[in-house]
Amino acid sequence: MTRPNEVEARAEALVSRMTLPEKAAQMMQVPYSTVTREEALAWARLGAGSFLHVLGDDARELQAAALSTRLSIPLLFGIDAIHGHGLNENATIFPSQLAAACSFDRALVQAMGRATAREVATDGLHWTFSPVLCLGRDTRWGRIDETFGEDPYLAGEMGAAVIRGYQGDSLGADDSILACAKHYIGYGEAVGARDACDTEMTYRKLREVFLPPFEKAVRAGCATAMTAYGSIDSTPFTACEKVLRGILKEELGFDGILVTDWDNVQALVTRQFAAANIGEASRMAAEAGNDMVMTSLGFYEAAIALVEKGLLDERVIDDAVRRILRIKLRMGLFEKPEKKGVPGCFACEEHLSICEALARESVVLLKNNGALPLNDIKSVAVIGPNADDIRAQYGDWTYFSHPLPDPAREPKRPYATVLEGVRELADESGMRVSYAHGCGILDGSEAELEEAVLAAQNCDAVVLVLGDTLDQHGEGKDRADLALSSAQLTLFRRLRALKKPLAVVLVASKPLCAAEVAQGADALLCAFNGGMFGGRAVAEAVFGRLNPSGKLPISFPRHSGQLPVYYNYLPGWHGGKYMDLPETPLFAFGEGLSYTRYEYSNLTFDTKTFLAAVDVKNAGGMDGTETVQVYFRDLVSSILTPVKQLIAFERVFLKAGDTKRVAFSLCKDDFSLVTPDERRVTEPGDFVLMVGASSKDEDLLNVTFTL
Ligand code: BGC
Repeated sequence: MTRPNEVEARAEALVSRMTLPEKAAQMMQVPYSTVTREEALAWARLGAGSFLHVLGDDARELQAAALSTRLSIPLLFGIDAIHGHGLNENATIFPSQLAAACSFDRALVQAMGRATAREVATDGLHWTFSPVLCLGRDTRWGRIDETFGEDPYLAGEMGAAVIRGYQGDSLGADDSILACAKHYIGYGEAVGARDACDTEMTYRKLREVFLPPFEKAVRAGCATAMTAYGSIDSTPFTACEKVLRGILKEELGFDGILVTDWDNVQALVTRQFAAANIGEASRMAAEAGNDMVMTSLGFYEAAIALVEKGLLDERVIDDAVRRILRIKLRMGLFEKPEKKGVPGCFACEEHLSICEALARESVVLLKNNGALPLNDIKSVAVIGPNADDIRAQYGDWTYFSHPLPDPAREPKRPYATVLEGVRELADESGMRVSYAHGCGILDGSEAELEEAVLAAQNCDAVVLVLGDTLDQHGEGKDRADLALSSAQLTLFRRLRALKKPLAVVLVASKPLCAAEVAQGADALLCAFNGGMFGGRAVAEAVFGRLNPSGKLPISFPRHSGQLPVYYNYLPGWHGGKYMDLPETPLFAFGEGLSYTRYEYSNLTFDTKTFLAAVDVKNAGGMDGTETVQVYFRDLVSSILTPVKQLIAFERVFLKAGDTKRVAFSLCKDDFSLVTPDERRVTEPGDFVLMVGASSKDEDLLNVTFTL
């Protein structure tokens, strides 16, 4: 790796030698999937800065073309390695970000990032467009699975962890890749969960709620960021100088590459109607602070013309190019353009074991009337549309869905669906397993239903796996209604009527409205998109080989009409509930049971040292891991502040019967708010500190204090 001063000097020297067309080309990121090979080569020879979605020998050919140009500036290759390097079928496919967030496990999420980096680098690539730091608050949005959930603190902690994993100790290492904090900013807050729409967001709210994960990403050294689609108060983010250049670069001190999202510049003309032509759009995007332009290929000529006509200051271009070169230098690409990675690391034992561990920690037990774990039974029926569907279990951003959806594509081993996991474990104890599909996600037939009922009748217990499919989520796939289909509900009712022990498992991209199922089932497990071993982890939980420890990073609504529903809402609702729904979500942020029982006591908080501590006892009969959560509320503040806000958490392993004192080192800033004139301050006055097992009042001990 090149040293910092040397990096600056070399970047500066190169910029000064580059012609205007060379600099404009350096700002381009060309989509390999939508141009011909000849066009791609022509772009490489022009001196394009980067390509996305290109693998193997194709990438090598482009790199050779780039290196044969006058200045031999190496290309950066980017890919969407979103939960593992999943566009490559040989890679380790990890739980989705949302599933991984259920672990609340910084170390394991970092390990996932590390393993992913090694596999991406082994493919010769440099850059993943991950993590997503958007918050998932209106869960009708199609991309909820890509978020770390609804909370800024948790999203920031998980994001910083995975960034550290991707980038390792040094960007120059053969197995490190660039991370990308995206989508900056507010993309998840689009009105009505309509992908890429305008946001109902003020700058105050932006800073208080949506900025903190990006601040943490910058502090973690994240080398790149991606501009969001959408807009704030009708200004497209792509053209928003205050947000991009002002807040991200100048205030937070982000010195990496800011890349637009797919076609953002062209979209200023064709979707947002904020620019009359590509020339105007290019000027707006460059001035606002975008350094690299993903896919809007018209930017190249437009930028050259703008500078030549005196409509764009060349220093804007220079600044962008300097940032791009700086990263290439920090990565050592001029000396070693191709990452070597770690040959043989694809789905290697070490990566698979990280994947397995994360799948285990992401299983959330939401209800249990004692039916689970299933013990002392001779037979079990596994039923349901997602019991044996690896595509649904993987979710978005794998070789089934990208670059183009291909349902006919054969899944690559290893993996285990819930059915396979149950079969494997049942075999070991000589238990009989029956399987029936029961229905599809959206519809079903009477014959399928009958078959499922028959299978269940002949068994001692039923595991029913419901959820959603790839067709129901992803980009541009927002839903108006998150209810389970009537086919799935009918299946549930028919099985419930048999009065056998019934455990329901949700394999889904997001919280679905499953109130009737939650009420009627004896036990409910949430598995989201658990990756390769998600099904096996569920089976282990079902049989008590695993004591569930996952906690929800996102609230479950009772009904789509209740959305958005999140725990850190602002007070003031007259009546405090809809006339036809309780005020609470079906399951709250932070919730998650286990097969043991944890007791909290002796909460203390010292306002001089800002040290909080609490005793946590495993009062049940099974060893387990509890995630202890710390929230606060500012009792009276000059503006509305959330009814509670997470500020710390820790995973604690406790043997049955053991007690540990868990301490948290907090600081004054943890209790701050953002004022209407956009300053972060901690106002003097009374506060409540709450510590416990979830965000629900009844799960929290509290202590009042004055600052
Ligand atoms: C998505 C990004 C992604 C990019 C490249 C866009 O449509 O919003 O998240 O990284 O495409 O695939």
